[in-house]
Amino acid sequence: MQWLRCPHLLIEPAEVRELDQAALLRGQPNFVTRRVWRALCSHRDGAFALTDAQLALLGRASPREPQAPDLLRGSASEAECQALLDAGLLREVNDDGNRLPADVAWHPLAAVLHRQCRWSDVDSRETDARLEAVGGMAGLEALFGPVPDSHLSCGDPAQRLALPYAASTSLSKSLQQRSTCRNFDRTRALALQDLASVLGHVYGVQAEAEVSGLHALKKLVPSAGGLHPVEAFVLAQNVAGLASGLYHYHCVAHALEPLRGLSSEEARDLAARCVAHQTWFEDAPVLIFLVCRFQRTFWKYREHAKAYRAVTVDVGHLSMLQYAVATELGLGSFFTAAINEMAIERALNLDPMQTGVMAVTGLGWRAAQMHSLEFDPLRRVWPDWSGAIGTPAGT
Ligand SMILES: Cc1cc2nc3c(=O)[nH]c(=O)nc-3n(C[C@H](O)[C@H](O)[C@H](O)COP(=O)(O)O)c2cc1C
Repeated sequence: MQWLRCPHLLIEPAEVRELDQAALLRGQPNFVTRRVWRALCSHRDGAFALTDAQLALLGRASPREPQAPDLLRGSASEAECQALLDAGLLREVNDDGNRLPADVAWHPLAAVLHRQCRWSDVDSRETDARLEAVGGMAGLEALFGPVPDSHLSCGDPAQRLALPYAASTSLSKSLQQRSTCRNFDRTRALALQDLASVLGHVYGVQAEAEVSGLHALKKLVPSAGGLHPVEAFVLAQNVAGLASGLYHYHCVAHALEPLRGLSSEEARDLAARCVAHQTWFEDAPVLIFLVCRFQRTFWKYREHAKAYRAVTVDVGHLSMLQYAVATELGLGSFFTAAINEMAIERALNLDPMQTGVMAVTGLGWRAAQMHSLEFDPLRRVWPDWSGAIGTPAGT
């Protein structure tokens, strides 16, 4: 039996601030800082605090070449070695065994970033309360200094070359009516036809063709390498003629694949957890989970420094096209990356390193009243828009 270390491992020299227990007992509460080595990896959530002996052991171990424990152990005790094995930072391999887990060819930094930045049960209402407690934006400015300028200016204004007006197009006119929707009409069902139009245009396939040996899909969005790794999973809460529950959109068949039926309470509860309790999104008639099949893109861009960035940009293109199509249909749409990925992974039974959820979008009819602020200074959606809730325009 030999040992391998896990494939993606970053070591962080971290500083932990904690209560000084001895001082506390003396009635003098005080904080002390302690420096620790933290192991961050792609196969487990959260950091693992390492002793110096464990750190040295992992430094000797290879993710590819199994080695005898005696060569690796150094001064690490049995218990320290066992803790590494229990955490999966070290793996035992048999001489004839299959040594590596499913190879998705992640870039190591991206793999650790993706794994460790997921949320489990974040509640954005707590974040909002904290923001309010520090005095909102003014409080943040007091803490962090002024907000950076809204835009960049380069050089002398007198040297600017003024451009002709941007020509108005049907697309630009339509997009002027786009505003991130935070006010859904929870009583008005989305027509199946509207859902089908959004899914078909945004996530659906326009054509299939063999290109240089690759079976490629043509969609209305671009995608790195033409690989289109992002899939749409639908949480239907209020769609006429569609039972509430979870579905996968089959982009070639242009069909919904039922995964699990949910009562309306279950659907609402799941929606709320998925969008980290952003209450303005949780009653959207439809939520769409953008799930990336990393192996599709990383199969070609193996351990590539830009590959994770590329799939993130793919997600952005889908989001923008969804905004555009929804706006054309008169529907509200939103995008959020402030999501509890782990809740979605559990609901869809996903392995985050194989098929990870990157974002959530939503879709539906807008409510008549704005209860949560939207950004519509052009007043194309909300004629009385003033930048404040409950304040008549112009006051
Ligand atoms: C990457 C990204 C993340 C976003 N996340 C959130 C979010 O978590 N919650 C939210 O209410 N809006 C979110 N939005 C919407 C933005 O707040 C919104 O686009 C911005 O305020 C400008 O308003 P507009 O989209 O109406 O022009 C997000 C948008 C983007 C592009």
